[in-house]
Amino acid sequence: MKQDYRDLIIELDPQRLPQHIGIIMDGNGRWAKLHRRPRLYGHRAGARSVRNIIELAVELSLKSITLYAFSTENWNRPQSEVDGLLKLLIEMMHKEINEVHRQNVKIRTIGSRRNVNPDYMKKIDDTLSLTWDNTGPLINVAFNYGSQQEIIEAIMNWHQKANTDPERYPALTFASFEEHLFTAGLPPLDLVIRTSGEQRLSNFMLWQAAYAELYFTETLFPDFDKYEFCFALREFQERKRRFGALKDK
Ligand code: FPP
Repeated sequence: MKQDYRDLIIELDPQRLPQHIGIIMDGNGRWAKLHRRPRLYGHRAGARSVRNIIELAVELSLKSITLYAFSTENWNRPQSEVDGLLKLLIEMMHKEINEVHRQNVKIRTIGSRRNVNPDYMKKIDDTLSLTWDNTGPLINVAFNYGSQQEIIEAIMNWHQKANTDPERYPALTFASFEEHLFTAGLPPLDLVIRTSGEQRLSNFMLWQAAYAELYFTETLFPDFDKYEFCFALREFQERKRRFGALKDK
């Protein structure tokens, strides 16, 4: 039997928790198949893991987490799955928002707003805006997110501003580029977690993950509970980070 996640919490150094964690929530479909249920059943089970993640973020006062909920490539899935996922996202936000607000959590979406129904995005914003002044953990739901798209949009937006305000934007620098990413204002990723055994980034935060520690687990996302999350945090704290230099930082 698994240990209690609280036994792992006491092994964590609260001073060295990652400032920004990215989670690639993978394996919902396989989990559903294993349980002989439709794929959407797996996504619903995944939504329960999201709730656990948020609860642990509150318990540990984590700063920011970005959840890869819907990629720019996910539109290519069967229409019934796309529709089901869109419905589930809104449903879950509605259902959880009051509790999340009570816990002082701030939730917002990041991703491209191009080619997404503006009414749908408005519904999401209207729901999430209740939490936008909260000061606890920040949960970024990456929706219609693709890192390559993000980088292209950042350069295009920067270019537009550089044309109209060349004094403020004389040259493309690291800082002025980052200002135009969806993650503007956020620290880079310290840790990326991917569930289900796949070991790739799949167009997730390619810029922001430059020096992130990568943690891959065989656990399918619906089984990714607080224990598994704490385990990943403990593993993170055991890693030696060098950021390209020789000495530990
Ligand atoms: C990947 O599993 C998962 C997704 C594409 C969707 C993730 C969405 C949720 C967990 C819903 C709730 C989320 C929030 C933030 C409210 P997969 O379908 O690729 O699994 P497979 O590789 O086993 O087929």
